[in-house]
Amino acid sequence: MAKFYITTAIDYPNAAPHMGHAYEKIIADAYARWHRLKNDEVFFLTGTDEHGLKLQNAAEKAGMSPKEFVDRQSAKFKDFCRLLKISNDDFIRTSETRHELVAANIFKKVFDKGDIYLSDYEGLYCAECETFYLEKDLINGNCPVHGIPPKQVKEPSYFFRMGKYQEKLREFIVANPDFIVPKTRYNEILSRLKEPLRDLSVSRSSFKWGIPLPNDPSHVIYVWFDALINYVSGAGYGTQSFKKIWPADVHVIGKDIIWFHTVIWPCMLFAAGIEPPKKVYVHGFINDEHGEKMSKAKGNVIDPVDMVNKYGTDALRYYLIRAIPSGADGNFSEKDLVTRYNTELANDLGNLVMRTAKILESKFNGVLKNENFRQELNFDEIIDAADKYMLSLEHDKALSEIWKIINRINSYVNQTAPWQIKDEHELKTVMYNILESIRITNILLSAFIPETSEKIRKQLGLKEQTFRDLKFGSGNFKLGKKEILFPKKELEKKEIFPLE
Ligand code: MSP
Repeated sequence: MAKFYITTAIDYPNAAPHMGHAYEKIIADAYARWHRLKNDEVFFLTGTDEHGLKLQNAAEKAGMSPKEFVDRQSAKFKDFCRLLKISNDDFIRTSETRHELVAANIFKKVFDKGDIYLSDYEGLYCAECETFYLEKDLINGNCPVHGIPPKQVKEPSYFFRMGKYQEKLREFIVANPDFIVPKTRYNEILSRLKEPLRDLSVSRSSFKWGIPLPNDPSHVIYVWFDALINYVSGAGYGTQSFKKIWPADVHVIGKDIIWFHTVIWPCMLFAAGIEPPKKVYVHGFINDEHGEKMSKAKGNVIDPVDMVNKYGTDALRYYLIRAIPSGADGNFSEKDLVTRYNTELANDLGNLVMRTAKILESKFNGVLKNENFRQELNFDEIIDAADKYMLSLEHDKALSEIWKIINRINSYVNQTAPWQIKDEHELKTVMYNILESIRITNILLSAFIPETSEKIRKQLGLKEQTFRDLKFGSGNFKLGKKEILFPKKELEKKEIFPLE
């Protein structure tokens, strides 16, 4: 049995979870569930990144202590995971003792090795990104990501000799062409590595909300050095289980934090004597329907919780997995979501299951068992293609493949027209083929739309199944309560008030 350790980035819980957070968790969840279907031993980690100036500032604004604030906020992210049916095996919070101990331990290891030294930091800091910038990186004097002026800071700081690991990192990346996916990102990082790596400031002494340095408690560990360590602390670094789980098979992250994950993190691990992760998968950004960044100021924010309330968890999951191209930016259009909901989910899938359930009820009293019927449909090639796409982290294409199966079942239903078949054995054969095809497809669907998949299983009287059950002939069907899976929806029109 292969092991599969997958992570998402850990979110800053300074505000409510947003569509970008939903997207990242949902795609990582689809991969985790797919590997479980393949009977791999999966460990799926997500969590919250709770230290640093950004969080301290947000707590102050809320009139709370940082700890009270992150406790409240982090709970919202946990609830968000439940709402989206994220099947994470653990949820790591960087303010937990189990993490703080590991972070301090790793910092000490690197310090004792001589790879961390004390100096002064003078430069520009954007608390929103928790990142230091060079003058040349700014756009009109502002942070390139947040558009606000970074603060000039001058304070004593410990530095990590990152430059020492540059050549080793370059060699590692060259030797592992799949380390960064997609390829465009891989090439981008290799090319950026032609410039010499500067040492990295890894401590802050001007505020307190962080993990104190084991060698100098007047400093706290820089929030990114602290946060990246979640991937090993969450996997039980220092215990037996860590040896089984590490290295991570995939870190799923957004394009804005690629440098931290593909350069800083492996260098930290080299220094600490830990193997680097096998792969970093970089997804794009979710923008509004016109391709504009979502922001409160522009009033174009689409709240994922709102979408779930209107259309259900699986509709949001389906839309994000299928409609946003993997590895690239994508636009979120509610109109498009409603169209796909009505055509793909309600018509293609929902109607297929309902039509079949009705015939099962009316012609067979709800029960149909295997009697060695001849197999008329075979999806092995499509399933292989879907699997290849999931392994190459192209979840959108994998889901399209699965829809090919659904379309083929629908064509088969239309061609054979079971409602007109008079011969009993012929009718049984056709219906068994349809039911088996739905059962097999439903195994695959469980990675993407788990709530619906469970409903289908219950309607057809099936147990939870895995890749081992993909073969034709193992299904026995007993109708449960019939239920419309996706009641048709209309796009709610926004009220527009005429100007006086
Ligand atoms: N706390 C850091 C990550 C530390 S990982 C050791 C952080 N947090 S974040 O809350 O700002 O972002 C969390 C994840 O959401 C990141 O992978 C980020 O790229 C992703 N997204 C944030 N906004 C996004 C979109 N609009 N679209 C898609 N994903 C985006 O960075």
